[in-house]
Amino acid sequence: MVKPESSENEISRDRLAELLNEDLCREYQAIISYVVYSQVLSSAQYMDIAAQLETHARQELDHALIISRQIDYLGKMPAVTPRPVRTSKNAEDMLRFDLENENETIHNYRDRVRQCEALGEYAMAEQIRQILVQEQDHQIDLATALGEDVPDLGRWPEAGKTAKQV
Ligand SMILES: [Fe+2]
Ligand SMILES: [Fe+2]
Repeated sequence: MVKPESSENEISRDRLAELLNEDLCREYQAIISYVVYSQVLSSAQYMDIAAQLETHARQELDHALIISRQIDYLGKMPAVTPRPVRTSKNAEDMLRFDLENENETIHNYRDRVRQCEALGEYAMAEQIRQILVQEQDHQIDLATALGEDVPDLGRWPEAGKTAKQV
């Protein structure tokens, strides 16, 4: 494993709150995309994944609440704007958008755990670890529905975008 950069060890609480607000905007994006995609993926082929996406939607709301609480704890105001949600009429495209977003989310939360620990915020690191467990489940559900291997995010974004280049 690559050691964290020294800059990560020098993170401030204000910078951590800013980064958590970016995470929160990604959680809002995930809620919206899973709400919509779970309802429009209607063909028989995608029934199982559509039901899983409904579960993801509820879990993403839990994540948004947990992240907001951490931002408030750091003395900052939680953000209110989702990252843009991509849409498509093509079911496979929708699943791929979700998978790419989960890859990015996992990459970011792995950094966040290290940053929380660098600040001695071990309880916050633990909360983010628990979110990370669910995000990795989402990633596995989506990769499985697409018939792909789960991307190796150790080398993300290269590996996250096209697993075959690795
Ligand atoms: Fe999430
Ligand atoms: Fe997720």
